[in-house]
Amino acid sequence: MTLGDYPDPAPARQAHTASAPLLKVDRLIAGYGDSVVLHGIALDVLEGEIVSLLGRNGAGKTTTLRSIMGLTSPRAGQVRFRGVEIGGRPPYAIARLGIGYVPDDRRIFPNLTVEENLLLAARMSTGRGRWTLDRVYDLFPALRPLRASRGDHLSGGEQKMLAIGRALMKDPDLVLLDEPAEGLAPLVVRHLIEVLREIRGTRITLLIADQNLNFCRWVADRAYVMEKGMIRASGTMEALWKDEQVIARYLAV
Ligand SMILES: Nc1ncnc2c1ncn2[C@@H]1O[C@H](COP(=O)(O)OP(=O)(O)O)[C@@H](O)[C@H]1O
Ligand SMILES: [Mg+2]
Repeated sequence: MTLGDYPDPAPARQAHTASAPLLKVDRLIAGYGDSVVLHGIALDVLEGEIVSLLGRNGAGKTTTLRSIMGLTSPRAGQVRFRGVEIGGRPPYAIARLGIGYVPDDRRIFPNLTVEENLLLAARMSTGRGRWTLDRVYDLFPALRPLRASRGDHLSGGEQKMLAIGRALMKDPDLVLLDEPAEGLAPLVVRHLIEVLREIRGTRITLLIADQNLNFCRWVADRAYVMEKGMIRASGTMEALWKDEQVIARYLAV
């Protein structure tokens, strides 16, 4: 994917080292059945940041997000949200604390309309009152004329927008986004980049799992690079972009 002459990426911001992280994962071990996939993950996300979790297919990005969300039970280690241990809690309880999750398969309701999908999500809102139908439509103008269309009549890009819109309607403080740019046309990706920057301006914190360094470069402040269930590198997006060794070893396909 090329983004052509898209404007310069957001400058990396200084970490507020004084404040406690919004999300803190430490020595997290998780897997499926007998197989261990995550071998001790540690990462921090500070309030207001956009952090990317990069790595090739199979590195463990999705499993990391699922473990934070409680969809895969951690076997050991800590997951702290606002300093409170949430590891082992059920997904609905974690969602209610203000963590949203947009899975890579989007998980919208195909037989419901766009608006019904959004309103259903609003029923699970944390009640902070920041997001309304109108605000979601303002963010994704393409969804407004489709409000009465069924989910399964939407294009892949429209479904991704709806899935993000659904997460916002729950009014979270932190959103975990899995492969948001995957399979989207370059023009749609550009719009998504703008939307993610706008969402950041609304005091929502984002943790984005994506294989695409070029995409993350335009949206994220910092990055963690995963391989084989471990964090192999971390730093500002700017620094990672210039780190040919790390890119060649863990990201180039
Ligand atoms: N439901 C599952 N059952 C068993 N193994 C799985 C399951 N989901 C993922 N895995 C394995 O876990 C590893 C990490 O996968 P995943 O977290 O999906 O990586 P990524 O999102 O970085 O592509 C892979 O080896 C994958 O085969
Ligand atoms: Mg994945």
